[in-house]
Amino acid sequence: MPVAFLGLGAIGAPMAAHLTSTDRLTVWNRTRAKADAFAREHSATVAATPKEAASGVTVLLTCLPTSAEVDAVLFGKDGAAPALASGAIVIDCTSGDPASSRRIAARLAEQGVAFVDAPVSGGVPAALKGELPVLLGGQSVAVERARKVVAAFGKKIVHLGPVGAGHAVKAVNNALLAANILAASEGLTALVKAGIEPRLAVETINASSGASFTTQVLVPARVLNGSYPPLFRHALLDKDCGIAVELAAEMGVERPVLQAVKTRMAELRAILGEAADYMDPFARAERSAGVEIRG
Ligand SMILES: NC(=O)c1ccc[n+]([C@@H]2O[C@H](COP(=O)([O-])OP(=O)(O)OC[C@H]3O[C@@H](n4cnc5c(N)ncnc54)[C@H](OP(=O)(O)O)[C@@H]3O)[C@@H](O)[C@H]2O)c1
Repeated sequence: MPVAFLGLGAIGAPMAAHLTSTDRLTVWNRTRAKADAFAREHSATVAATPKEAASGVTVLLTCLPTSAEVDAVLFGKDGAAPALASGAIVIDCTSGDPASSRRIAARLAEQGVAFVDAPVSGGVPAALKGELPVLLGGQSVAVERARKVVAAFGKKIVHLGPVGAGHAVKAVNNALLAANILAASEGLTALVKAGIEPRLAVETINASSGASFTTQVLVPARVLNGSYPPLFRHALLDKDCGIAVELAAEMGVERPVLQAVKTRMAELRAILGEAADYMDPFARAERSAGVEIRG
């Protein structure tokens, strides 16, 4: 099946790589050199523009920072949408925002093109293994089509509701992740400064009620080893927290905790910069307290 993939970033590239075994893949990336490097390593054709990538394909996947970039690559200059034939489907793996996705879906529907939001969870290691949880939002018929495509890189593939439902659940999930990262970075730094052995503290928390994915997986694999490879930008996690706050506001739900997390994430984004990794708040907490959480 001819498939196009737009956006070969940290997570997009390993996802697209899995499609090359089952599909005839065309890729496009804003920085052309990354697409050329991808095509040298995998069986894929490089398109010069989103429009060129979309011509002749029935399935188009996007994996971009936010819904604003998805809108631009579909409907902007040299955008993909006008090249898509009626009956095609757009599967958006961006962690986007529900309201934008509903607008994009409505616009594509005018030309007979289906839209499914399909953000992924699990990070780069799961993407490399082709074992990403995929959170689907859309109409049932389109979702069943999308399910077959994302199975190339997905493991737990869940249909959560209409268009935007995948993005909504993804945003709240990531806001919870951010809350845990921020709280654990502050709490563990305090414990180490109080003279407690870091690994012992983490193991005790992980056998207790404060355990989370952050303390069980991320801290042992990365913080205790002093390993900070760039896998997922802090700026993108901050963006997800903003989507979660907007969702809660739209639903009229009180949100002081989500708002506090978002505020702190934005402060750290300003301090750490756009390229910082989502685990860098730990490194910063260590630096500012003059301790190392190692062991
Ligand atoms: N990394 C993860 O672990 C992870 C996990 C789950 C979900 N996500 C989500 O997946 C999406 C992509 O994340 P990522 O980590 O792959 O991001 P990334 O490494 O920052 O890559 C972003 C991609 O979008 C492209 N891009 C940026 N601005 C653009 C623009 N204005 N127009 C067109 N293309 C543009 C980049 O092109 P260039 O190469 O030219 O910069 C690159 O291909 C985000 O929504 C993120 O929240 C990421």
